[in-house]
Amino acid sequence: MPENEPAPEPHPEPDAAPASVPERAPAAAPAAQPPAQASAPSPAQPPVPAPTDWSAFQYEIYLNGMTGTVPRLPTDLTRLEEVAAARLGPGPVGYVAGSAGDGKTARANREALDRWRIVPRMLRDVARRDLSVELFGSRLPAPLALAPVGVLSIMHPDAEPGAAQAAAARGVPFILSSASSTPMEQVAEAMGEGAERWFQLYWGRDRDVTESFLDRAAKSGYSALVVTLDTRLLAWRPRDLDQAYLPFLRGVGTANYFTDPAFRAGLAKPVHEDLNAAVLHFVSLFNHPGTTWEDLAFLRERWRGPILLKGIQHPDDARRAADAGMDGVVVSNHGGRQVNGAIGAADALEPVVDAVGGRLEVLFDSGVRTGDNVFKAIALGARAVLLGRPYAYGLGLDGQAGVDHVIRCLLAEFDLTLALAGYKGPGELGREALSRG
Ligand code: FNR
Repeated sequence: MPENEPAPEPHPEPDAAPASVPERAPAAAPAAQPPAQASAPSPAQPPVPAPTDWSAFQYEIYLNGMTGTVPRLPTDLTRLEEVAAARLGPGPVGYVAGSAGDGKTARANREALDRWRIVPRMLRDVARRDLSVELFGSRLPAPLALAPVGVLSIMHPDAEPGAAQAAAARGVPFILSSASSTPMEQVAEAMGEGAERWFQLYWGRDRDVTESFLDRAAKSGYSALVVTLDTRLLAWRPRDLDQAYLPFLRGVGTANYFTDPAFRAGLAKPVHEDLNAAVLHFVSLFNHPGTTWEDLAFLRERWRGPILLKGIQHPDDARRAADAGMDGVVVSNHGGRQVNGAIGAADALEPVVDAVGGRLEVLFDSGVRTGDNVFKAIALGARAVLLGRPYAYGLGLDGQAGVDHVIRCLLAEFDLTLALAGYKGPGELGREALSRG
């Protein structure tokens, strides 16, 4: 049940300074610059797509300003939370912005990224940049995916299909949460064939339901499985507790379960005849603190594609993930929503990369808000980052268009940060690009 105000006002604070006349308008810009490989294509290989000129978004914004149009949402993505708090309902905003306990881990996430500083290099040729990265056999246009965020319908009626379509339109992978408010098949259909999508698993108590989820996800074209390990119980979250706000208890964020044949087999009556019983059944399956490393074999046997473990923060756990035949880890603390008083996720990144970077893919989330955050995570060894809260705010404030705005702002800022610091793409970044602040 969306509680937000449906029609956000345009962002009311245009920059007072006159926009400089762009030297290159986006239409005139060489937006499609062929990468080196494309100059001599082998007949056996499909042509490599031209890299996207993400930075051109700034000229598009300035040009729109010539006719009096300013962006509907802030272009500094750290401001989205404040704008969302002013315009959307306290329940949904509290749910998205809230963290575990008094918020120490969420603050640590931002501080850990801020402690690293970029050391710009001069007079390097950065005219042709390519942000694309190779991940699990696919070439992504940038080292970015949208993180699994549950119950998106509380933010906006566009919900998961809107966010997923925004991601698909930019070629960015969308990771659908188990706790989606839209069934996975509908989200897949909205994205369309060929759009990169992954499925995030909350690994509940009922193995039949888990098997059924894996089966449905594979059939609907989700190519990778992201198994979230840090949420086997829900943490103490005062912002939700103070409002007694938990959408799942109203049957919101349970769509994958309520449409699942194995889940429904455990109910005495159909969901629409006894919603409370269905919700209680969902709650009884969700908490599952008894799983251990040995149980991963169950998933490995049943999922053919890549499996990533999300929530890894210790190098030994990363090693165990590699030993268990996993394909990747996401260094993450769930945006500080689970263990209060934990280390900032970026502080866990280097040790994990050092432990397993050569054996599996290391991805990163928790605290990513700005282009320099992406730069730093990649320089510390992440292959790609997941974006969480900012796109949920973008969705809440302007539906699918808001998610598109957020993706474009983040990648334009990342592209410009790379160029201004003297780098042509993520592949050139290493720790020497950073200094401990
Ligand atoms: C999440 N996250 C999350 N993770 C997951 O694996 N499954 C889920 O259903 C959810 N749901 C969810 C809801 C909300 C409202 C938030 C804010 C987050 C965690 C998410 O994938 C990611 O790890 C964090 O969002 C990263 O932190 P920041 O960068 O958003 O602060």
